[in-house]
Amino acid sequence: MSMAKEEFLRGLNELFAEELEAGIRYLHLAVTVTGLDRLLVRKVLLENMNETLEHAQVVADKILQLGGVPKLELKLHLAPEKTNAKEAIRTALAFETAALDAYRDLLEKVGNKDVALEEFLRAQVALESQHVAELELLLEG
Ligand SMILES: [Fe+2]
Repeated sequence: MSMAKEEFLRGLNELFAEELEAGIRYLHLAVTVTGLDRLLVRKVLLENMNETLEHAQVVADKILQLGGVPKLELKLHLAPEKTNAKEAIRTALAFETAALDAYRDLLEKVGNKDVALEEFLRAQVALESQHVAELELLLEG
């Protein structure tokens, strides 16, 4: 396997872990959010959880297609603390922004060395950007 391919696989594995971690974080936020708008926010958080888990699956498919095997190492400690709507969305915005940056970093590394992977990452950057923009809208007002 070429050095470049190994580097791409490493990057994709990081994205895989990042998406799964985001999924778990969304679940935790959804079950710890309280307040008047709890039910509404929980619904949004669980929808986002499903979306990040779908992203993890397409990234895993990409890893297999490139000749790798998805690997997962998670070190996650989520404190037993309640949150409110605004805090939950703020937290989500922080890890979604980190995920978007990770996609962008890998896209930059791949450049035009692998056109199919480049296109895949571009599409993911577009999706993640929408995600981040939607969360920002929720924090307005
Ligand atoms: Fe995602």
